[in-house]
Amino acid sequence: MTTATSGAAAYGHVPVMLDEVRELLAPALDQAGAVLVDATLGRAGHTMALLAAHPELTVIAIDADQAAIDAARPLLHADLSRVTLVHAFYDQIPSVLAGLGIRAVQGFLFDLGVSSPQLDEPDRGFSYSQDAPLDMRMDREAPLTAAEVVNTYPAARLARVISEYGEERFARRIADALVRERQRAPLTSTARLAEIVRDSIPAPARRTGGNPAKRTFQALRIEVNDELGTLRRAIPAALDAVATGGRIVVLAYHSLEDRIVKREFTARATDSTPPGLPVPLDSARPQFKLLTSGAKRPSEAELAANPRAASARLRAAERIRAAA
Ligand SMILES: C[S@@+](CC[C@H](N)C(=O)[O-])C[C@H]1O[C@@H](n2cnc3c(N)ncnc32)[C@H](O)[C@@H]1O
Repeated sequence: MTTATSGAAAYGHVPVMLDEVRELLAPALDQAGAVLVDATLGRAGHTMALLAAHPELTVIAIDADQAAIDAARPLLHADLSRVTLVHAFYDQIPSVLAGLGIRAVQGFLFDLGVSSPQLDEPDRGFSYSQDAPLDMRMDREAPLTAAEVVNTYPAARLARVISEYGEERFARRIADALVRERQRAPLTSTARLAEIVRDSIPAPARRTGGNPAKRTFQALRIEVNDELGTLRRAIPAALDAVATGGRIVVLAYHSLEDRIVKREFTARATDSTPPGLPVPLDSARPQFKLLTSGAKRPSEAELAANPRAASARLRAAERIRAAA
């Protein structure tokens, strides 16, 4: 996630855990002819720093949001000859690489979620702190909007989305309130949504855990963009495409994302010889080694400079043997 405003442009677009990302990817990106896939280009903060650190590096820069690509292009102008910009969802990595005639790459970076410019741009509808149409699409050509979700899903499905993706314990009350409201008139604004959520949560619970609308907004965003499904497809595909000696770094911002990353990384870093066999099978030996023990968190200094990094969890792995 890039950092920024929330009423304070003071934070600027500072890439999260940049030092850690640079350090972890360096051994892979120093290789001759190295290629990095930045699966979430955003404002190109990480990509610009990596291009500067590795003068021979080329980058395949993916983003689902055409506005992000359009905004990154001028930022990358000095290095555009080393960058291929691709408007796509990151679960399309296999076809993106095949289209470019590339079988394996030395680095992958995923910096998940929404960027600060997306949060701060009022008409995107990602933010509960400013009024906007209920949109929340990363790709503005995609068919499903947050308005569609809150105005058409049956109450039980809406409650399930808010409960599972928002980890919101008052999901059923919120869903029922949304259904009552839409019977009067369709829900169209983020401010009204935030108000209904707040009014559905009992007063004592509202006093803890930040803005009460945060969890419901997260849930709707995940549903609108099928974020978990996309990530579940993308991480294994990316791991398959890491060259031997190549590295992958993922920054997640909530436990649902991080759990998917952890599971996929751990599976590839574990010997899968069936129990009971006397010796490990060569074909079942781990293909990856984990480069972080658990998830790495931002330093105190980074958190002080950039509160939006607070929820970041970084995991990294290196391919140590080719696929069997
Ligand atoms: C947190 S920002 C990345 C910021 C970037 N690392 C930087 O330093 O500027 C995440 C970006 O990923 C994009 N994104 C989110 N989900 C995506 C997906 N499934 N496929 C491709 N891009 C996605 C968003 O549009 C957003 O621009």
